[in-house]
Amino acid sequence: MSDLNLPIDFHQQLTLYQRRVDEKLKNFIQPLPSHSRQLIEAIRYTVLCGGKRIRPYLVYATGKMFGLSPGSLDVAAAAVECIHAYSLVHDDLPAMDDDNLRRGQPSCHIKFGEAIAILAGDALQTLAFSLLADQPMPNVTLENRLKIVSELAKAIGAGGMCAGQALDLAAEHCQISLASLEKIHRHKTGALIRAAVRIGALAAGERSEKTLSLLDDYADAIGLAFQVQDDILDITGETDRMGKQQGADQQRNKSTYSSLLGLEGAKIKAKKFCQDAQIALDSLASQSLQDSGASYDTRSLRALALFIIQRDR
Ligand code: IPE
Ligand code: IPE
Ligand code: MG
Ligand code: MG
Ligand code: MG
Repeated sequence: MSDLNLPIDFHQQLTLYQRRVDEKLKNFIQPLPSHSRQLIEAIRYTVLCGGKRIRPYLVYATGKMFGLSPGSLDVAAAAVECIHAYSLVHDDLPAMDDDNLRRGQPSCHIKFGEAIAILAGDALQTLAFSLLADQPMPNVTLENRLKIVSELAKAIGAGGMCAGQALDLAAEHCQISLASLEKIHRHKTGALIRAAVRIGALAAGERSEKTLSLLDDYADAIGLAFQVQDDILDITGETDRMGKQQGADQQRNKSTYSSLLGLEGAKIKAKKFCQDAQIALDSLASQSLQDSGASYDTRSLRALALFIIQRDR
């Protein structure tokens, strides 16, 4: 699959969405009450210091496919990124992965201490839901908003991302099966990615089970591809480029695709998941053509699937 080229405008599109969501995040954080200057600084530090913004891209690109303009999706895109940022702060804590470097800077707890890092994560999580409850979302009905809140909450809680993180930690220093590893990845990383895609569609009022299920197939595949590539980069990546410590998984004896299948096996898996994602989009396009005579424009989602397995950071 890596012999397939990304469309020339993909990076342009990604940069556009990155800038857009960065601006919104800055505006949403700015008015937060600063009772504790340290806490607000930790939040700003965490959210506004880079990151690929892949989850916001998914919200924007999926929403666009269903006819929504970026202005309708800003709040949802920012909310999803707040959740992601919170998850990274907690993921780096000594009680979890104990990582000192994140996005090219000292991890939040290194810079501000563990207590503030925990609280910054907590506050980012609630900020996500405040945004969804309070900020204007033009052309998104209240019912659709509620669907989004429900989707996000489900994805990141005890049945989703938190479960995945718990299973990931329990699997350190263990030899686990491929099925168990896939379960971990589906939850710790896949659940939020799936939510980002679904949220783009739900914001537009999409309710067709057939359509949502094909979107899920796409999201599940890229979610797995994303984490497999993350595991690969732990071995092949460069610390400076990634902005996080290369070799950290190996050092902690993490269960990863590379540790279970070897580097080549992991690369084959990543390609396979990327192909699965493209197949899901093929089905989605032909289903929409059959149902309505017009095919969804799946190009942005296709490009992202390719990017995910070609990225070096
Ligand atoms: C890193 O996610 C954490 C995982 C789920 C593997 P990203 O690679 O998207 O991190 P940023 O946002 O670009 O820093
Ligand atoms: C992180 O997975 C998943 C979540 C934060 C939910 P990793 O632990 O593999 O992410 P990195 O490698 O530290 O970015
Ligand atoms: Mg982790
Ligand atoms: Mg980690
Ligand atoms: Mg990792």
